[in-house]
Amino acid sequence: MKNYIYHVGLTLWRKKTSMLIVVCLLILLLLGIQFSQSEQENARFKDGNNKDQTQAGDLAQFTNVKFLESLQKQRNAGKNMLGDSSNKEQSLLVRKVAEEHERSQHELEKMLGIPFVNLDLKNPYIPKNRIVHLDLKGAPPKVSYFKKIFTLLKTLGATGLLIEYEDMFPYSGILKDIKAGNAYSVDDIKQILAAAQESKLEVIPLIQTFGHLEFALKHSNWSKLREVPDSPQALCPNRNGTMEFIMEMLKQILELHTKITYLHIGCDEVFQMGECEICRLELHENLFLRHVSSVANVIRKQWPHLRLIIWDDMLRHLSQQSLQDFALGELVEPMVWVYAEDIYRFVQSPVWDKYATVFKTAWTASAFKGAFGETLYVPDARRHLENNLRWLDVMSQQHQLFKQGLSGIILTGWQRYDHFAVLCELFPASLPSLSLNLLTVSNGYFNLSLKNQLLSALSCPEHGSGRPTPFIALEVDPHLWDKLGRCMFPGSPIFRLMYRLHNTENEVVEYLKVTQQQKGWLTSYNVRHNYSLPLRVDELTSDLPRIYHSLLALNRAVVDSMNDIFDHYVIAEWIEQRIYPYIIELEKIQNQTTILKNVNSWPSRPLPPLKDLQRLGVSLPQN
Ligand SMILES: *[C@@H]1O[C@H](CO)[C@@H](O)[C@H](O)[C@H]1NC(C)=O
Ligand SMILES: *[C@@H]1O[C@H](CO)[C@@H](O)[C@H](O)[C@H]1NC(C)=O
Ligand SMILES: *[C@@H]1O[C@H](CO)[C@@H](O)[C@H](O)[C@H]1NC(C)=O
Ligand SMILES: *[C@@H]1O[C@H](CO)[C@@H](O)[C@H](O)[C@H]1NC(C)=O
Ligand SMILES: *[C@@H]1O[C@H](CO)[C@@H](O)[C@H](O)[C@H]1NC(C)=O
Repeated sequence: MKNYIYHVGLTLWRKKTSMLIVVCLLILLLLGIQFSQSEQENARFKDGNNKDQTQAGDLAQFTNVKFLESLQKQRNAGKNMLGDSSNKEQSLLVRKVAEEHERSQHELEKMLGIPFVNLDLKNPYIPKNRIVHLDLKGAPPKVSYFKKIFTLLKTLGATGLLIEYEDMFPYSGILKDIKAGNAYSVDDIKQILAAAQESKLEVIPLIQTFGHLEFALKHSNWSKLREVPDSPQALCPNRNGTMEFIMEMLKQILELHTKITYLHIGCDEVFQMGECEICRLELHENLFLRHVSSVANVIRKQWPHLRLIIWDDMLRHLSQQSLQDFALGELVEPMVWVYAEDIYRFVQSPVWDKYATVFKTAWTASAFKGAFGETLYVPDARRHLENNLRWLDVMSQQHQLFKQGLSGIILTGWQRYDHFAVLCELFPASLPSLSLNLLTVSNGYFNLSLKNQLLSALSCPEHGSGRPTPFIALEVDPHLWDKLGRCMFPGSPIFRLMYRLHNTENEVVEYLKVTQQQKGWLTSYNVRHNYSLPLRVDELTSDLPRIYHSLLALNRAVVDSMNDIFDHYVIAEWIEQRIYPYIIELEKIQNQTTILKNVNSWPSRPLPPLKDLQRLGVSLPQN
């Protein structure tokens, strides 16, 4: 026995190098297994993030809550220690706690996903006026919906509304043809204005008076006022009838808006200028300025109390001298708009200096929706928050340049990019983004301290079953679906359905790609030639009924949730743009499948070439 042990020991000793190698390999193997496990977990998390945001979101939410708690504890611990310590230790501790505090503050903000903008938090800049833009040229809500949201906007710090009716105003008389079939009635407008007044929201109507007059100039009755005969975009300032047309619009709108101080007269994106025979003789610069100043002057004559606002984009490249030559500073106030994150990239310091020399005051315009893609259906709240935070920074710097400071910020929410474009994000789907951004500009910053204000304004559920109420995590949840998905604000079912649309759309698009392009039995070639293998067709369409029905269910839910807020035309337009094309596409595959499976004997190859290929230079066999 002793001998045996000795023998084993000796063998081990002799082979010590090999043993060492074996041990090392074992360790490496163990490490490797652990590593690949955690990799897989990461991958699963990422995958979940794409496919099923709820799951990933819940996980993120859980870790956030834990992390938040621990940070809170650290900060509290710091405070307690401070109370007990002696004077000498105190300064050191104060510094340490302050550093710790700053760090945890930073970590907290990072976790909420708030974009970093270097604001002066000791002295936050809060714009005097915070105005919400209602772009009614698409998806105009019912009057009852306005009544529901105005108080909400007021609670979040709004001071007013910029109402852009476009063709939704009840124009009458010689203008009766330019109003939309579903335009508001005079009584509707009165109700909207009364509701705004009840919520103490100042109303600023917006009437285009130069470019973006598509809604009027598209009609044959008014085509004679176009600058370019084939384009309804801009009117010609030199045409007989131009000023009468503008004055008639103004008269009708101002008759209903008797208590206003400000009027916005548009004048952005005048893409066509100086092209007709009369205008060709004049400099663009002068054409623009002369028209704006004559419109402003006629308004001033009839409504001397009104202060006029115009969009600033056409002024950016004009010289200070010409702005002053036309005394523009006495007539209008510019509204400087930039919806992208980097504001100085679009409006640089010299432009601000020029504006401050010419104008006593100016307005700014950020965005909460309708700025990052013509066909989006829910806004990226994080990008809009960055735009608004950066505006606060820019405004705090530029405000002192103007004799009367800056007048305020408009949060724009475009509903179409122009009269002819399709719908972008619907207002109810954008209310979380609007609320976040409105609260931000009303306080001059955004951080955790505004959590309860945001959640209660949006009617989010209170602490449920002992779990802390989840809060935003913009980095992983930029659309706020996960964190604000349970809130019950007016229109919240529509906001939630956008998340369902997002998932269903992804599934449908993936299905179509696989079925029609990646797999080899239901491509357009198979369909055109009636040539496929029934077994494979069955396989490819086994998921079709499920996907089709989830689309139909989504469609029903959307119609139901929109009925309270929009009229039939709006619902029809939205469904046709977002859901109907997929329904048709899936039905087409279903029909093709039926045809393909009806065949039970097939021709010999080669299949007859498609006749149409002749025009592509393919010669076809004779006979
Ligand atoms: C949020 O920012 C404000 C202004 O700087 C500050 O007073 C407050 O302590 C901050 N609160 C939190 C929770 O970060
Ligand atoms: C405008 O044209 C339509 C038909 O094209 C006509 O019915 C209508 O009366 C016209 N309106 C005016 C104010 O001329
Ligand atoms: C406008 O009307 C006046 C007088 O009615 C006329 O002399 C002038 O040529 C007209 N201008 C244009 C551009 O039609
Ligand atoms: C599918 O076939 C049905 C029945 O023939 C027809 O009514 C329908 O229009 C077809 N749908 C498409 C998208 O082709
Ligand atoms: C495909 O085959 C079916 C069944 O034989 C037939 O009814 C149909 O007309 C064919 N379609 C084409 C495009 O050849």
